[in-house]
Amino acid sequence: MALEAEAKAISAKFDYTDEDVNKGVREFLRQMNEGLEKDGASLSQIPTYVTAVPNGTEKGLYMAVDLGGTNFRVCSINLNGDSTFHLTYTKVAIPKELMVAKTAEELFAFLAQQIEVFLRTHHEEQFEKHLRRRMTISSPLGFVDEDVFRLGFTFSFPIQQLGINKGTLIRWTKGFDIPDAIGKDVCALLQKEIDKLHLPVKVAALVNDTVGTLMARSYTSPGKTGAVLGAIFGTGTNGAYIEKLSNIKKPMQGEYDQSTGDMVVNTEWGSFDNQLNVLPNTPWDVELDKQSINPGIQMYEKRVSGMFLGELLRLVVVELLKKPHVSFFKDESSDSNDWKSTTNIASDSTLYTQWGLDTAIMSVAAADNTPELVTLRQELESTLHVYAPSLEDAQAFKAIAGAIGRRAARLAAVAIAAIVLQTGSLTNPETADEPVDIGVDGSLVEYYPYFRDMIYEALRAIESVGEEGAKRIRIGIAKDGSGVGAALIALVAAGMEKAEPKEYFADYIGQLRRNAREHALGSLAEEGDDVAARD
Ligand code: BGC
Repeated sequence: MALEAEAKAISAKFDYTDEDVNKGVREFLRQMNEGLEKDGASLSQIPTYVTAVPNGTEKGLYMAVDLGGTNFRVCSINLNGDSTFHLTYTKVAIPKELMVAKTAEELFAFLAQQIEVFLRTHHEEQFEKHLRRRMTISSPLGFVDEDVFRLGFTFSFPIQQLGINKGTLIRWTKGFDIPDAIGKDVCALLQKEIDKLHLPVKVAALVNDTVGTLMARSYTSPGKTGAVLGAIFGTGTNGAYIEKLSNIKKPMQGEYDQSTGDMVVNTEWGSFDNQLNVLPNTPWDVELDKQSINPGIQMYEKRVSGMFLGELLRLVVVELLKKPHVSFFKDESSDSNDWKSTTNIASDSTLYTQWGLDTAIMSVAAADNTPELVTLRQELESTLHVYAPSLEDAQAFKAIAGAIGRRAARLAAVAIAAIVLQTGSLTNPETADEPVDIGVDGSLVEYYPYFRDMIYEALRAIESVGEEGAKRIRIGIAKDGSGVGAALIALVAAGMEKAEPKEYFADYIGQLRRNAREHALGSLAEEGDDVAARD
């Protein structure tokens, strides 16, 4: 009984009431507008230079790479022009040591190598053709246009975007920490490593995964208005939405098309309310933040995203294990355990190690509604090496995990509602019959049972949304959104290239010089160097 009462009391500390949700929305709107006015606000509100969403008719073959969390994905995407696409991809885990490498070059060289492997495996013919062409200096347009893949680079960290394929890293998140890369243009870093390998690839667009998700959602389910928000609830969390250009008060460098009157803004909402004006703050939130590599930053993300929820639960579990009067994961005798054994935490259990509890087990806990919680208990054994947990143990674990998950979903509703309200989509009479479409992706929203239901429950409780508003908000999965979205933005960027003949030509001359230097024998190579030296 003591355990049950203790679990209840802890769960109550993760309550996030309807009133809290409403207060959260008001503060989110305030911080959004602050971020549109000036740099350095909690919500970065980064203009992306993307000024329109697709309508489903876009066509062509593009490449996309995605660096954003635990994996690096390389894909090629054939956009069919009828709201459908064909995607080929490979995925590799990022070696842990590269996430904290000494130099940016180490990480980006690894990424370029993966692009080479992908091209050799999936686009051998195009790759060979390019290699042959490199040996001869042929027609400028043929060289530049035909064989060079335009690549959309999904880079899911906060970036100061300076143009469609240019942006400097503001800070790392999600466990990455390579100080050498801060302030550098990540497109240039990738292009440099691609060029070292002589790959036929031009980094044409720099895209946050949320922007990609927004684009992909608009391509695959075009409505009268397109999606208003692309959001990720995965390892990290963030959202990008369509803002009126006139609302973006802070200065923007770089050129962009002003004709639509809109621009996609990357909110970087992971850092919403770093100052903790309204975010809930239990003792375990405090501890998690203190032990993280970026204390005081990404405070919303630390309460909402997959990377952190498991760790939060682990901290609670460890505290509970320390309480002498609570019998959690321990039994007096086999008689007090319904499996007629005694519970044991194996010495190799990762329960006592930071990050040792994978958030995935919270999905198992939420999904197991059987009277004996057998699946959850087996999962506790196989992943955490807690042997023969009793039914009471599993119930307590499920209750606490559920409370942490529920708070995360209700916090997610705060961000979603604030953005829907900011765009005015619920009150615009011209689109009154249309759903307000939102594309989402990420492991939490995809695999955590009832995550979306809990979001809707909170949305209904928000004063300016209510039952009717919540009914109109359509939250749909945009699977592989970032890859497809990056391809779509690369397509837009390729169109912009042609409108800039000077830069295009300079690009070609540069290629010629490099070719000459490397391949065109003896004296010509020397002359190439001279030319370069005069630049
Ligand atoms: C990053 C965002 C990204 C989000 C989801 C956050 O940690 O700061 O740029 O969109 O994770 O991947």
